[in-house]
Amino acid sequence: MTAPQRGNPLPHSRAHRIDSLTDNYGRQITYLRLAITDRCNLRCRYCMPLCGVDFVPHAEMLSFEELERLVRLLSALGLSKIRITGGEPFARRDCLPFMWRLQGMDTVSSLHITTNGVKTLRYLDELAALGIAGINLSLDTLDRNRFQQISRRDHLAEVLATLDGCIVRRLPLKINAVVLEDTTDAEILALAELPERHPLCLRFIEKMPFSGTPDVRPQTNRSLRDRLHHLFPAMLPLVTGVPATARLYAIPGFAGTIGLIEGNSRRFCATCNKIRITPTGMLKTCLYDNGVLDLKAMLRSNAADHEITAAVRAVVSHRYRDGLATEANCRRATPPTMASIGG
Ligand code: GTP
Ligand code: 5AD
Ligand code: SF4
Repeated sequence: MTAPQRGNPLPHSRAHRIDSLTDNYGRQITYLRLAITDRCNLRCRYCMPLCGVDFVPHAEMLSFEELERLVRLLSALGLSKIRITGGEPFARRDCLPFMWRLQGMDTVSSLHITTNGVKTLRYLDELAALGIAGINLSLDTLDRNRFQQISRRDHLAEVLATLDGCIVRRLPLKINAVVLEDTTDAEILALAELPERHPLCLRFIEKMPFSGTPDVRPQTNRSLRDRLHHLFPAMLPLVTGVPATARLYAIPGFAGTIGLIEGNSRRFCATCNKIRITPTGMLKTCLYDNGVLDLKAMLRSNAADHEITAAVRAVVSHRYRDGLATEANCRRATPPTMASIGG
């Protein structure tokens, strides 16, 4: 079997049939999360320590050319859903020209982005022109003081302008709201007015221990689902049939939907279809591993396409069953920041 060569991708259906990437538990990998930078214009307390982080020097991050080569190789293996993450993706110059190049690949079927919305408004027309398949906007509260307390920055107005911009342009939108220890019912109910009025998905997320500080212990989130059922007694589970991080719910009278992401409880590992590449080019086959393949080293030592593909196949065939097993085997004294992973 020959690996697809750079610049000459196989047609999607054929590439998928010949070369699809399946792990040792039979899970087919179809989703690639690309963290293109660790830089961010917020300092969310669940993502970064108070003292901030030492951002990676530019030369240590993968160049857009290197990222493009990896996407070409991996999308030919059936990883046709690509999500651009960070840090904040728009903190990296020329994010959009890069996205246009990915969108031009016939092996890429859907291109998504996760953004904090601080500077995103100015890019919405171009994202629409690009045919973005989805924008996931991080927004934990609608209260300005609370936003400042959580993100250590005063940028709620800009994020809300991005939210409005997405709504008026009818861009496919999901809102990511991390539920913290001190998130109140009133905050949750205020956020829920968004899907009540607009056709978007509001996803409540269990907080995970990725703040870059050793003192933050994993929260027990077992009650989040119960709490949502209590707050929204009419909510009804939606069965989508596709692997997803979020459980979705409809609420009668709502234009949109509510979602629940139980990442800390690791509820969706059995159908996990994704791998990640960090800004420094480490491949992660689970959010909880420490990076299992140094793609940057391969790229910069002139590895051939087929060598990279073979190395990816090798690590994908050694995944742990779930995030709990990964965490148990890869525990670190200080957990990394979410900004260095991309969520
Ligand atoms: P969709 O493709 O729209 O479903 O988005 P997504 O949920 O895959 O991505 P997004 O960047 O919006 O992330 C939402 C939340 O899910 C963040 O808190 C992520 O850290 C978390 N998340 C995404 N993938 C995983 C995963 O594989 N495991 C865990 N535990 N959490 C994840
Ligand atoms: N736990 C859960 N979600 C997190 N995110 C960032 N840090 C955490 C954490 N510790 C979310 C952001 C963003 C997505 C990429 O990850 O809110 O929406
Ligand atoms: Fe920035 Fe996202 Fe981390 Fe907040 S959670 S500091 S928006 S990377």
